[in-house]
Amino acid sequence: MPQVHEQMIKISVLSTLLVLSFQLIPTAFSHTKPIPSDSSKLKSWIGQNIREFLERKSQLTRGKNATAVDEFLARAEDGFRVITVNKHGGRGDFTTVSAAVKSIPSGNKRRVIVKIGGGEYWEKITIDSSKKFITLYGDPYDMPKIVYNGTAFEYGTVYSATVAVESDYFMAVNVAFVNSAPMPDGKRVDAQAVAMRISGDKAAFHNCKFIGYQDTLCDDRGRHFFRDCYIQGTVDFIFGNGKSLYLNTTIKSVAEGMGVITAQARENVTDKSGFAFVHCNITGTGDTYLGRAWKERPRVVFAYTYMGTLINSEGWSDGSHPERANTVYYGEYKCMGPGATSSGRVRFAKILSKLEAMPFLSMTYLNGNKWLLPPPKL
Ligand SMILES: *[C@@H]1O[C@H](CO)[C@@H](O)[C@H](O)[C@H]1NC(C)=O
Ligand SMILES: *[C@@H]1O[C@H](CO)[C@@H](O)[C@H](O)[C@H]1NC(C)=O
Ligand SMILES: *[C@@H]1O[C@H](CO)[C@@H](O)[C@H](O)[C@H]1NC(C)=O
Ligand SMILES: *[C@@H]1O[C@H](CO)[C@@H](O)[C@H](O)[C@H]1NC(C)=O
Ligand SMILES: *[C@@H]1O[C@H](CO)[C@@H](O)[C@H](O)[C@H]1NC(C)=O
Repeated sequence: MPQVHEQMIKISVLSTLLVLSFQLIPTAFSHTKPIPSDSSKLKSWIGQNIREFLERKSQLTRGKNATAVDEFLARAEDGFRVITVNKHGGRGDFTTVSAAVKSIPSGNKRRVIVKIGGGEYWEKITIDSSKKFITLYGDPYDMPKIVYNGTAFEYGTVYSATVAVESDYFMAVNVAFVNSAPMPDGKRVDAQAVAMRISGDKAAFHNCKFIGYQDTLCDDRGRHFFRDCYIQGTVDFIFGNGKSLYLNTTIKSVAEGMGVITAQARENVTDKSGFAFVHCNITGTGDTYLGRAWKERPRVVFAYTYMGTLINSEGWSDGSHPERANTVYYGEYKCMGPGATSSGRVRFAKILSKLEAMPFLSMTYLNGNKWLLPPPKL
């Protein structure tokens, strides 16, 4: 017996050394490092991660082989230009966001920062797929609000968006996207009203607001990063087939009856899409579900997220398709608050192990270090 004991001590010393040596190996890039569980360390984690693109880009310009950098983007960032929108005219180049977007040529290859003055802009805007590398940039203390009231009844859900972005490499910083159509009263089935649709790849939103009721944010397709945002709605208010990471984002339900946060639209096994919410805060009203199975194989994970009393103890819904209970991937990892209790959860809700949660908890999920830029400093 003493021999066994000795061996165990050896093994434990060895594994401690292994762990230590892993921590000591200097890693050039941190994108594989998991998001810290401690939210006070989140800022430095984000900062470090979104600087990686710039580090790689500088290696590229020094003639070194930085394979993982997105070269189209690297070139677009050299010599960006700024155009300004001011609704009161004055010193702005344009008085509407639409006019500013219209001025950007199709096939654009250079970053254009559209700096938007404070106030409300009553506009319905589509940025088509030929206009890449556009940044909408507002003042955090005087946020521009882009508002319209398109509904599914008038346009179809997808085309109801106040702002629709179909191009890659889009970024928005300090901008509110609002659909002001009234809250559906349940009498119409086509009263969904989208505030923002993002259909381009490699998009980032920093400190933005998405405000509506049903179907507020259409996270349609592509890889998307949301940070320090605010998303408000009632039913299916974050929906679509995007592959997205939501960090430190407030999710506010204003539902009066049943509320549903996500309707992730993954349909088949080859599809890599899914929504990961990490260090978010779910508040508000209604009898609210974390997600419902609108399509066959939705994938949604909440980690380190605060869930208020509004969350129905079942957590998730099969969307009246009992067979989808076998194909959904609905996970929770180390969430907090009264809504996070796992006792009443539906049987297809997964309380994830660390190993299962890890793929959703680093920038690798989005290949972010290839393309994720810090917000510009203007
Ligand atoms: C850079 O290195 C990778 C392997 O790390 C290689 O596949 C690629 O061809 C190299 N590119 C250049 C331009 O040398
Ligand atoms: C949208 O706003 C316009 C102008 O205020 C108004 O005439 C129209 O009825 C509104 N439509 C909806 C669906 O709210
Ligand atoms: C989280 O977002 C809020 C803005 O909504 C911001 O004030 C705060 O500093 C952010 N916290 C972290 C840890 O990034
Ligand atoms: C599965 O999803 C992929 C990606 O969205 C799509 O290209 C493909 O057509 C889908 N296959 C089927 C059988 O639906
Ligand atoms: C969540 O947001 C609500 C409303 O803004 C706030 O009162 C609460 O302190 C937040 N909770 C956490 C854990 O961040």
